[in-house]
Amino acid sequence: MALQRLVGVTMGVPDVAATREYYRQFGLDPLPDGRLATVDGGPQLTVVHADRRRLLDLVVGVDDQDDLDRITRQLAGLGIDATKGEDAVRAADPGTGLTVTARIAERIPPAPVPGAARPDNERSPAVERTAQVRPRKLGHVVVGSLDNEASEKFFREGIGFKLSDSIRGEASFLRCSTDHHNLLVAKAPVRFLHHTAWEVADADDVGRGATAMLDGHPERHAWGMGRHHIGSNMFWYLRDPAGNFSEYYSDLDCILDDVRWTPDVFEGAQSLYSWGPPPPADWMLPEDIAAGMMGLHSGG
Ligand SMILES: [Fe+2]
Repeated sequence: MALQRLVGVTMGVPDVAATREYYRQFGLDPLPDGRLATVDGGPQLTVVHADRRRLLDLVVGVDDQDDLDRITRQLAGLGIDATKGEDAVRAADPGTGLTVTARIAERIPPAPVPGAARPDNERSPAVERTAQVRPRKLGHVVVGSLDNEASEKFFREGIGFKLSDSIRGEASFLRCSTDHHNLLVAKAPVRFLHHTAWEVADADDVGRGATAMLDGHPERHAWGMGRHHIGSNMFWYLRDPAGNFSEYYSDLDCILDDVRWTPDVFEGAQSLYSWGPPPPADWMLPEDIAAGMMGLHSGG
């Protein structure tokens, strides 16, 4: 019937063990096969060795064979080679260099609405929470593309993502579910993974999760807490040992009816957030990526 969610990603990093341990502390569940799982999404993160940090692989969930046939036809129409298997079709995006797989997958239940009413004359249950914050799913990934136009065409016309919003000349917010965005393709001088974003219950869990990660590790702090403007989500970004940002988020806009959503075009950095501390100076192009560009410009 349709694209319905992000199934998972494969991240390449120089130090696999340190990165896996970081995401375990972040609240993902390490599985015996080495993958890391969320509460609702199952195994969603695979960490493998790579000389420099990068996103290698993105898997999008679809419902059935009709979806695979449609995606195969769409990719062929764009002149892009695709490999079709029994339950999946795979192709590479020329802009980000990502291998993208559309695979038949189980749907996962929608998130409860945060901030549901609570009884009068009682303390908020939020102040009593002590359990470790556990992300319920991988929500979105943000990647740098050498050719934004080609990437947008690949993901929209080839795979079937929908455009939710964009920043003029800079980035496109794309969705493969009812979430405002599951993929942000940003114009960049080098291909790289900017961040992965993991959904938690509400703003309290955004704050609690980040606070726990920073205990004894102040160097992990990147940006937060705040509320994004595009997508509206509460956010707090941390830095993993490889340098990738990882975001705890909640309260992202949902688009249940495509017809009633009109994509907007925003201008520049002021569209980044509605409130919160200012982003770090190297937010758009992290220092290690800028420094590593020498000789890595065309890196896949
Ligand atoms: Fe994000």
